Parts: sequence; structure tokens; C-alpha cells
Amino acid sequence: MKDANLLLTASTSRELVEDPFKAIERTKRWKIKSAYGDIGFKYRDDQTIAYVASRMPAVYSACHRVLKEVKRRLPGFAPKSVLDFGSATGSVLWAIREVWPHSLESINLVEPSKYMQRVAQSLLHGLKDLPLIHSYDSIQALMKNLDKSDMEHDLVMASYVLGEVASLKDRITIVCQLWNLTQDVLEMFRRVSEQFTVMFRRKAFLHWYTGEGMNEMEFIEAECNMNDLVSSINNIKMRLLKKK
Ligand SMILES: C[S@@+](CC[C@H](N)C(=O)[O-])C[C@H]1O[C@@H](n2cnc3c(N)ncnc32)[C@H](O)[C@@H]1O
Repeated sequence: MKDANLLLTASTSRELVEDPFKAIERTKRWKIKSAYGDIGFKYRDDQTIAYVASRMPAVYSACHRVLKEVKRRLPGFAPKSVLDFGSATGSVLWAIREVWPHSLESINLVEPSKYMQRVAQSLLHGLKDLPLIHSYDSIQALMKNLDKSDMEHDLVMASYVLGEVASLKDRITIVCQLWNLTQDVLEMFRRVSEQFTVMFRRKAFLHWYTGEGMNEMEFIEAECNMNDLVSSINNIKMRLLKKK
């Protein structure tokens, strides 16, 4: 199954790199259904509270770990201007302040959920030495408001966001837009597929889901879709890198 999937990835991703939008139209395979349905996941009051209580600490740790690794690999790099796409409660800003305590001068946050925006604001309330913070509902609103000279950011982050954008066409557009807004480092986190694979191989927690009526095949399919997506995003990044 996995070998067959890898072969499929190789052929479809070549098409995807050559003409991403045409490739999507041509094959149903790329109409990936999100776990949240095809309209994407909306963070209202309850979902935001649940996010803060359950996921935020882990997401902060992941951001912190990744940024520390960036610092280790690029010792001369210290971002002054940052774009955080899908900023939610602001973990990226907190992690940047920890890793580069004095470098940040301005940060643009893109976050469509008013509830998430409100939590981010209240967490920052009363803090000293904050950078200039601009908040936008969408990437389009950001681009409309930016002067040409402010378009490129030293660091662009998209942590755990792309998986929540339901359509693959939108994801590709977003990756291209983010790349154009990047001067130096573009960091996109994906969900940790390696950990999923380790747990799935051991059938950890599987009985919870099969007990609720899910089929094991659904997990295998999800894993394949996830790997396809990661590989297509990597291919697009490579293509864009060659163009730059
Ligand atoms: C899992 S949270 C990401 C967490 C955040 N990056 C962090 O580090 O804490 C996903 C966020 O992406 C946002 N999001 C979803 N679709 C988006 C889109 N099209 N543009 C910008 N943000 C989006 C959601 O509202 C949500 O706040």
C-alpha cells in the first residue's frame, strides 16, 4: 500500500510542480477532504477555549524548538520583521521573544478568528518591550495594507495552519503568497506524521476510534493523504526556491 502510494506521489507531484492548478482540476485525488469538513475549522468561543487548554502549550513548545534549531543553524540570523500566518493565540510571538529576546521590531499577525485574536491580545496585555504588532483577518488584508518596502519579512511562520485550510488549491496559493512575503526564512510546520506512524503501527488508542465505528482503513488513507500533502508542499518549495 505504502509503496503504491509513494509511486503515485512521484507521478502526481511532478504534474503538481509543473502546473499545480491544472493538476488539481484533472485528478480527484487532490480534492483532499479535511478532517473538519470542506469548509475548514472555525474557532469560536468553545473551540478557542479548548485550544488554549489542550493544544496551545504543545504548539508553543514545538515553535520554540523549531526556532531554537533555526538559531543553531543560522547563528547570524535574528529576525526583525516577522509574519505569523494563522497566529491564533500568539505562540510564535512568545517563542520568538524567548529565542531572540532583543531582535524583534515588528510582527504582522494573520488570524481570521476574532476569538483567537481576543485571547492573543489579553495574553499580551501589560507586557513591556513589545514589538509593533499589526493584526489582520486575512492574507489579502495584509497585502492590501503593506507598503512595497514592508512586503518581505525576515521570518515567515505558518505553524499548524495549512492542515486547517480545507482546499488544496487554497493551500498552494497560500504557500506561494507566503513565499513572496519572505525575505529570509520561511518555516512551515506540519503535523508530526512520524509520531502518528509510530503510534498507528503499535495500534495505540486505535480501539477508541474503532469502538466509535471508524474503520482502520480510514487511518491508512489519512496517512497516505498526509504524506502526499507533505511531499507536494516540499516540491512546491523546491520549485519556488529554484525560481528565486
Ligand atoms: C492550530 S491553530 C494554529 C496555531 C498557531 N499557529 C500557534 O502557533 O499557536 C490554526 C490557526 O489557523 C487559523 N486559520 C485557519 N485558516 C486560516 C486561513 N485561511 N488564514 C489564516 N489563518 C487561518 C485558525 O483560525 C487557527 O487560529
